[in-house]
Amino acid sequence: MKPVNIGILGLGTVGSGAVGVLRKNAAEISRRLGRDVNVFIVSTRDAEKARAVCDTHTLVTNDPFSVVKHPEVDIVVELFGGTEIARELVLEAINNGKHIVTANKKLLAEYGNEIFSLAEQKNVMVQFEAAVAGGIPIIKALREGLTANNIKSIAGIINGTSNFILTEMREKGSAFADVLKQAQELGYAEADPTFDIEGHDAGHKITIMSALAFGTPVNFKACYLEGISKLDSRDIKYAEELGYRVKLLGITRKTDKGIELRVHPTLIPECRLLANVNGVMNAVRVDADMVGETLYYGAGAGALPTASAVVADIVDISRLITADTGNRVPHLAFQPSQVKAQNMLSMDEITSSYYLRVQAKDEPGVLGQIANLLAEENVSIEALIQKGVIKQTIAEIVILTHSTVEKNIKKAIAAIECLDCVYEPVVMIRMESLHASNG
Ligand code: NDP
Ligand code: HSE
Repeated sequence: MKPVNIGILGLGTVGSGAVGVLRKNAAEISRRLGRDVNVFIVSTRDAEKARAVCDTHTLVTNDPFSVVKHPEVDIVVELFGGTEIARELVLEAINNGKHIVTANKKLLAEYGNEIFSLAEQKNVMVQFEAAVAGGIPIIKALREGLTANNIKSIAGIINGTSNFILTEMREKGSAFADVLKQAQELGYAEADPTFDIEGHDAGHKITIMSALAFGTPVNFKACYLEGISKLDSRDIKYAEELGYRVKLLGITRKTDKGIELRVHPTLIPECRLLANVNGVMNAVRVDADMVGETLYYGAGAGALPTASAVVADIVDISRLITADTGNRVPHLAFQPSQVKAQNMLSMDEITSSYYLRVQAKDEPGVLGQIANLLAEENVSIEALIQKGVIKQTIAEIVILTHSTVEKNIKKAIAAIECLDCVYEPVVMIRMESLHASNG
């Protein structure tokens, strides 16, 4: 069979990794696919690098538009990142009848609806396994492996850079800035690392998974984002003393009232598998009605793990190119006519339990006043511990609550902060028990 011709946009970390994987494992990939994958053309600004990375027969250009228009190219592999030129190139490629493989979660979370809609019109496939959790085949699992289920919730450690930083800070006491620099040197971080540490990257990924799980359009604007940059190492320490780990989680959950979609630091019991996912590793936990809880673990970033997912998509498309378009796996897992917008819950409407840290005067009656204000908002306390006196007369009080609606905890916090005996804003971190739900 004739080789499938691919055109690669960008020879950065993932682009060079993809060419490397296709060269190194060419024989094994052909044994599985039944034909060769030919890197026909690459677009790069660095011709010297291209010559070092690619086979001699691969064409090299610095004009990416010539790749997306080239009549010999079957599949365009977009590895530029970002949304400006990448969006233009992907739309142009689709208009030219090219199938797309992309690792670009930002592009799909923000412009996925436009891209999938055009792809459906033009009968081409858009595959994006590498866009979520790097090398872990979570898109395939959500789109195909869990087809028999109603998915109830997804919770994932889906930003390797943040997890790497949290792990190094906890295990080695390293400084935030040093670990971030290390993550950048290792090729884990986004071009703009604030995307990693402020939760945007995880937000892009959980937005994509939410759409796949619940059959909705992608809706990044509805995603609440809170990163790790304001985390205080004291809270990581106190959480640990109480049997919890702090992780940056992407969470989406279907409730009777609507869909929760959020990213924030989260306390999880240390006995949970997710709590023990360390370094750059990612893990995604899916709770579904028939299979129950499943967990997917692996490298969430880096050249070769990400390239592994990119190449899997190339192989998938190559197998399906000749399939009847009606029998292809839908982009967002559900038939396009069945993808429907659903109510997205605001953060005030979500349900969670909470870790609070309050700095207050160390004198009789303070704990009682705080407990009363929580009770007034119907917030039930699971544990309340005075962590000791930090300055002469100031005590730190750590409170764990039972599950409540976020609006209630916010009202209680506002009231607590108005007490004369309370100093400093109250620190609030959400908690997830990650118990498998029934049925
Ligand atoms: P890099 O910054 O390493 O590489 C991107 C490459 O794209 C550049 O090296 C450049 O190629 C090309 N490029 C980007 N912008 C332009 C432009 N305006 N004009 C011409 N060329 C351009 O990024 P990564 O490889 O890390 O990431 C690529 C994509 O993969 C992103 O969407 C990212 O989010 C995603 N991703 C990355 C992961 C990782 O671990 N790094 C993991 C999962 C997904 P050249 O230098 O050849 O000119
Ligand atoms: N910057 C991302 C991360 C790369 O750290 O997880 C993978 O998407």
